[in-house]
Amino acid sequence: MHLYLRFAVILLSLSKWATALPPWGSLAGLSEREIEAFARTVTVTGAHPPPGPDPDTSPRLVNDAAHPYRAPGPNDIRGPCPGLNTLASHGYLNRSGIATPQEIVNAVQKGFNMGNDLAVFVAWGAFLVDGNHLTNLMSIGEKSSATGIDPPPPAIVGGLNTHKVFEGDASTTRGDFYFGDNHSFNETLFDQLVNTSNVYGGGYYDAAAAAEVRWNRILDSKARNPTFDFTSPRYVTAYAESVFPFRFFVDGRNQSGALDLITARGFYQRSQFPTGFYRRNGSFGFNEIGPDVDALAEAHPIAPGHNEGVGNYVLNPEDPGLSNGLCFLYTKHINTTLTSLYPNPQGPLREALKENAATFYTAMGDSSCPQVFPFGR
Ligand code: HEM
Repeated sequence: MHLYLRFAVILLSLSKWATALPPWGSLAGLSEREIEAFARTVTVTGAHPPPGPDPDTSPRLVNDAAHPYRAPGPNDIRGPCPGLNTLASHGYLNRSGIATPQEIVNAVQKGFNMGNDLAVFVAWGAFLVDGNHLTNLMSIGEKSSATGIDPPPPAIVGGLNTHKVFEGDASTTRGDFYFGDNHSFNETLFDQLVNTSNVYGGGYYDAAAAAEVRWNRILDSKARNPTFDFTSPRYVTAYAESVFPFRFFVDGRNQSGALDLITARGFYQRSQFPTGFYRRNGSFGFNEIGPDVDALAEAHPIAPGHNEGVGNYVLNPEDPGLSNGLCFLYTKHINTTLTSLYPNPQGPLREALKENAATFYTAMGDSSCPQVFPFGR
């Protein structure tokens, strides 16, 4: 092909692709030229600081007239997180499912009374790897059906659904990525939660039931998923997400730590607050979740590891799991995962990555853990 013609074809395919990547699509894996082309199609805002704590942590009516449930429309995005899905379906988050990490922190505080440290750490942990650092937007699930053609791999269009960087295996009501769908409500898995809660929680999903559900999900992935990965951050988030339902989905006027199974289904399957729902009484952050997570892990201990073939669970001895706080998770997330997604970021992207990585570090709240600077200070 004539050189000029070839150049024109490349430009054309680039611009076609650039319009295909939505403003919330991740820029991971894209070339500098592709990122520059994308930047010309959006408003570049870069990183912003996280919001502070909500001064009001009282148990308030959150399923109120200003936040009615509305089922998602055909272009609204929902994903693997029943907490964020519910906030979007009640308008605490934009109903489209596209949000800034700041909006996510404000919404989890307002709707569920999640503590500021935990909220910022989780929101930024996800945003760093799944969000768009130039537009400061993220999808709480997959791409919208209005998005058009996907960019070629290794680019990732999806937000929280993206496997391995934050989303992981052995989820409670969502299947493993290996089996094809890692984000939709799975009736078979929910039925297992119901059966286990009937046996161990007297008909409720409480701490005792949660320990058994968590363990069964680990055993199942170990037995059937040849690519099962149970290392940080998934090791830590899996236990935390098993705690969330009995701490956040129980009405704040009751706060028994026992979640009834009708309410559980409403959150997990329909992304819906029960009628007249009050959020929990008092915020729930790192200090509060620590003992709950430890109790689940101690009920059925297993060290971090991964499968090399079905049933062949190989330990990852370098991964301390829960035993050194969050330092290993933080360091791996920034120094290994983020740098593999962005090997050589330039300009405004590099600046935003630096700032967002620093926010993640500060939210961890552990000054004994050395801060890392793969993109410079
Ligand atoms: C702070 C921002 C949050 C982010 C970025 C986030 C993100 C996620 C992601 C990516 C998953 C999927 C993990 C996986 O299964 O591999 C997840 C699961 C989950 N999240 Fe969230 N989440 C957030 C806050 C919340 C809140 C406030 C709640 C509860 C009120 C919640 C409840 C849950 C539960 C129960 C699961 C497990 C679902 C299951 O395994 O079936 N999350 N979250």
